[in-house]
Order: sequence, then C-alpha cells, then structure tokens
Amino acid sequence: MSETPATAVPPMAMLAELTHRCPLACPYCSNPTELTGRKAELTAEQWADVFRQAAELGVLQAHISGGEPASRRDLEEITKAAADAGLYTNLITSGVGLSRKRLDALDAVGLDHVQLSVQGVDAAAADEIGGYRGGFARKMEVAGWVREIGFPLTLNAVMHRRNLDRLEDTIDLAVRLGARRLEVACVQFHGWATLNRGALMPSREQALRARDTVAAARIRLQGVLAIDFVPPDYYAKFPKACMGGWGSVGLNVTPDGQVLPCHAAASINGLTFERVQERSLKQIWEDSAAFNAFRGDGWMQEPCRSCERKTLDWGGCRCQAMAITGDPAATDPACSKSPYNAALRASAEAYAGSGTDLTYRVAPA
Ligand code: SF4
Ligand code: FES
Repeated sequence: MSETPATAVPPMAMLAELTHRCPLACPYCSNPTELTGRKAELTAEQWADVFRQAAELGVLQAHISGGEPASRRDLEEITKAAADAGLYTNLITSGVGLSRKRLDALDAVGLDHVQLSVQGVDAAAADEIGGYRGGFARKMEVAGWVREIGFPLTLNAVMHRRNLDRLEDTIDLAVRLGARRLEVACVQFHGWATLNRGALMPSREQALRARDTVAAARIRLQGVLAIDFVPPDYYAKFPKACMGGWGSVGLNVTPDGQVLPCHAAASINGLTFERVQERSLKQIWEDSAAFNAFRGDGWMQEPCRSCERKTLDWGGCRCQAMAITGDPAATDPACSKSPYNAALRASAEAYAGSGTDLTYRVAPA
C-alpha cells in the first residue's frame, strides 16, 4: 500500500486555551491534570501576536476556550485581536462569568459565534456534574442573551453514563434554546476523565441507544438542528480520526504558549512541544519534531500500515494508543484490528457501573 508523505498543509482551526481557570469543576475536563496557573498565562498582547501568526499560516477559525475564557478580564481585548486578524471567532464557554454587558461588548469587538456547554438538562443534574451551584440557571440566561444579540449558538453536551439516558431531553433542550447545532460528545477518557472511568463509563447498551437516538433526531430535525456525534469509540468497530489526523487540520495553544497537536498530546512521552515565545507558529507547525512525529502514514505499524482505512482514520488517537499500550505509534486500541481491542472492550464493560464517586477537577493556582 502506498505511503502518504508527512507534508504540512495549513491548519484550518486553532484552539486558543486562554486560561485553565474555571469556576466549574467537571470531572471529565479535557484540561491536563496539572493545570497552568494565572501567572504563567500569555498576555493579551502575546495572544494578539499568536492570532496574527495563525492567520498568516492559513488558520481560518479561532476557537477561544479554556478553562473558562470569561475568567480572563481581558477576554474582550483578546477576542478583538482574533477578529482583527481576520479569524472567524468562536467562544467556547460554560457561560459562568458572562453577563449581558460582556456579551454585548464581545459582539461589538467582532465575536462571530458562541458554543455553550451544558452538563445536564436540569439544575440538579447539571450542577452536580459541574460542581457549581447555580451554573445551570446562569447558562439558561446566557443562552437567552446569545439569542437576543443574534449570535449563532452551538450547544456542547458531554455525555456519559449518568446523562446518556437523557439524550432525548438534551436534544429537546437544544431546540428550545434556539441552538443551530448540538455537539453530542461521549466522554473521551483522557486527563481528568481517566480518574472517573468507574463513574462515567457508559454501558454498551447506552452507547448503541445513543447512536440510534441521534440518527432518528437528525432526520426529525433536519433544517432545525444539526447534530454532531462523537460516539464512545471503545464500543465501536473502528476508531475516530482523532483531530482529523495528527498535525493535519488543527492545533492547540495552551495558556502558557505551548503548541500542541491535540489537547492531550503532552501525555505522550518523548515528544518536546515548543512554545510561541520561542519559535514562530509557522516553524512549529511545519518543522517541529513533535508535529511531524505522526504526520502522513510513514510512522504507522501493522495492522495500520497495510490497512485500507489508514487515510480515513489515521490509525485513530495517538494519545489513546499511548495511554493503553505505552506506544503512541501503536494502532488505537479502539480499533477491532488492534491486539489490545478485546482488553479495551472488556475493561470498558468492567468500568461501566463499577463506581459512583466523582473526582472533581481542582482549580489551578
Ligand atoms: Fe484504522 Fe489502523 Fe484500525 Fe486500519 S488498523 S482501521 S488504519 S486504526
Ligand atoms: Fe491526542 Fe487523540 S487526543 S491524538
């Protein structure tokens, strides 16, 4: 089977993690378990430079995230810099820390889109998972302001064993709030979520039902609500094309300026990730050893190397391969062709229902 060369094409999207600070404490947070403190965060001026470099590199969309980006008092200034650089700006927020006045200010500086996370469909469920009383009520208020101002709204729902049985209600909530898009993302077990596998791992039956529920809703709500679905890949036949392929369509910049191919990349031993303070974004994207490590398919081992799906899923997720096999170049164990697949499925089924206690994310210094 022919090889796809490790050529860097311009990335489409950049995730700008402005801060790890967040009033919520979700037990599946995608931030690393070692959080960056406020003092190490890039300044607004540094972010402005990063956005200019990103636009020159070919990035089209800036996803402004965290932690909770509204925890930064200079969020408006940073968003303006991204918009001024010519990027499409999407604010990914829990809603806590936003007010009508701040949203108006964000509108005035050029914010294009809001993506609001929901942890559940009612206050009791959502506030328990978010670890923040009053969070759900604030989100509902923010969704109303977003609609009044006229931002397009995406709702982002991380689903797991405790809320998957309310997927229909989650879809109804998105319709009621006037969202145009709903992301139904089954929890991926990296970072904090790894500490909560026993409490959050869905059962196989829940995973299958979720797939059917989404399929039916997509037909029913055509033209009303678009639904993206990230299934729990530990019960699927093939893995997801994580990040659309390593170093392929997107990059993340962490609060202290590290440039990563994905949010969990720092979990991979042996790779050095460079910072925007040290080299240009273009040099890091095109030339760094870390970004080139898993580009193309020359790095693949069997069974990926000779598999007909290798340019569809790019061997799955490097971080999941690292976490389970200890080798980031291994076939993702979520693939049915991986020698680790049977063990992964067995461990998922063992975790499903094995615990209820949650380990909440703790706040950074
Ligand atoms: Fe994808 Fe590799 Fe599995 Fe083939 S063997 S389906 S390329 S993960
Ligand atoms: Fe890192 Fe999938 S989360 S490659």
